[in-house]
Amino acid sequence: MGQVELEFMNRENPRTGEFKAPPFMPRATTKGLGLERLDGERYLSAEFMKSEWDHIWTKTWQLVTRVDDFEEAGSFHVHQLGKESFLFVRGDDGEIRGFYNVCQHRGNRLCQAESGILDTFTCPFHGWQWNTDGSLKQVAAPELFQQFANGVPVAELGLPEVKVEFWGGWVWFNMDIKACPVREYLGEIGTHLETYEFEEWDLINVQTFEWAGNWKHAVDAFNESYHFAALHPDMIEFGEGHDIPIELWGIHSRMLNFNRTVSEVVEDRETMTPLRAHMMGRNQGGEHGCAAKDVHLLEIRHRRSLENETHLPFRNMNDEQLVHQYHYTFFPNTTFTQTPEGGAVFRYRPHATDPAKCYYDFFIVSRRQPGAAPRRKRPPHLIHVDDGSADYAAAFGDTFDPVFANVLAQDGSNMATIQAGIASDSFKGMILSDQEIRLRHFHKTIDDFIAGRVDTHHLLPSDYYLERKQP
Ligand code: FES
Ligand SMILES: [Fe+2]
Repeated sequence: MGQVELEFMNRENPRTGEFKAPPFMPRATTKGLGLERLDGERYLSAEFMKSEWDHIWTKTWQLVTRVDDFEEAGSFHVHQLGKESFLFVRGDDGEIRGFYNVCQHRGNRLCQAESGILDTFTCPFHGWQWNTDGSLKQVAAPELFQQFANGVPVAELGLPEVKVEFWGGWVWFNMDIKACPVREYLGEIGTHLETYEFEEWDLINVQTFEWAGNWKHAVDAFNESYHFAALHPDMIEFGEGHDIPIELWGIHSRMLNFNRTVSEVVEDRETMTPLRAHMMGRNQGGEHGCAAKDVHLLEIRHRRSLENETHLPFRNMNDEQLVHQYHYTFFPNTTFTQTPEGGAVFRYRPHATDPAKCYYDFFIVSRRQPGAAPRRKRPPHLIHVDDGSADYAAAFGDTFDPVFANVLAQDGSNMATIQAGIASDSFKGMILSDQEIRLRHFHKTIDDFIAGRVDTHHLLPSDYYLERKQP
């Protein structure tokens, strides 16, 4: 895709400087992060996995689910991260809290359902009970415990708490009670995403895939688009992933995938084929009035003209945001990728014990219609084990276009094969292109965390890795 052609859309809008999300075009340059190979050991080693637990998972902000899921007192949601299970629940005072989901008697998993409404959490083993604010309600037959002869130490037996905060209509938590606030953690690029008004979005469907690869392979795969041409040939028919703009912001990063165009690596970029018409929302007949590669430019003009009439937040957005995919990854494991009307959130989770497995959570989100109540009903959340036969289209039903479900199946198919390949004695380490700089930055950030170079109570300035060239 010609860079000049795309710069046109930002130059045309004199309001670009007013928007909270700065456009990617013209491109900023990123500081060099080196050219050395990336070792494969970090994807294989149990020791590295333990370091990640100690220095990353226990210190970073993690996404749970939508605030709207906690409709009333007693609404709860259980979330698994590595070896831990967490219980989030709205108390009678309206506050949403988070706890380690562990019975304080003999350590059984306390709440064994994923979600629901309860006024008391009762351990199925011996029947100890907790209230929705995490305080101990009662011990079963306390007279059997000499330790409680002078009374049950209620304060000592409350459920251990984690830090809970809210951003973008999502519940977030951090195991580190002293962590900086989530808003500060997300930094300046959190501000960019506020233009999408995520509080007004509904979670339509969430499905989990168990993949036979380390969690970092999944992050890596979704943080570059260099693989589109080979692994996802459909994707370059209706979007551009080749040599796209990428920016690194502190410990986080973002990239721009162009929608409603045809990749510059495709020979015929003019014809409106059935696939292109379907994915670009156009008629195949030619009423689109321009080459297939230019549909995005027409759509930008059209959407800009509607900004004062629509409930979609066009008025907040620079021209790129009106049609293209703004793809943000917050360290370590949450990706937001969206247009004004909807998108997806990816969450990558490590397996409890096996570095060669991970969980990939795929949340489909959509802007709510004006005046509609928040949507809480959705298909059951299932874990689909991808052993080569997982049916991605069936997993999402009618909530996801089958073309995209097929793309996801292609990504899933890669997990076991890359995990196996890097374990080879012959493998000398990964060679990363400039289009894979988000991977280099991600792994550098992992190394910085493990080495204790990142103070998660007071984060680095968000422009640490970014140098913006003046247009
Ligand atoms: S382990 Fe929970 S009540 Fe005994
Ligand atoms: Fe992919």
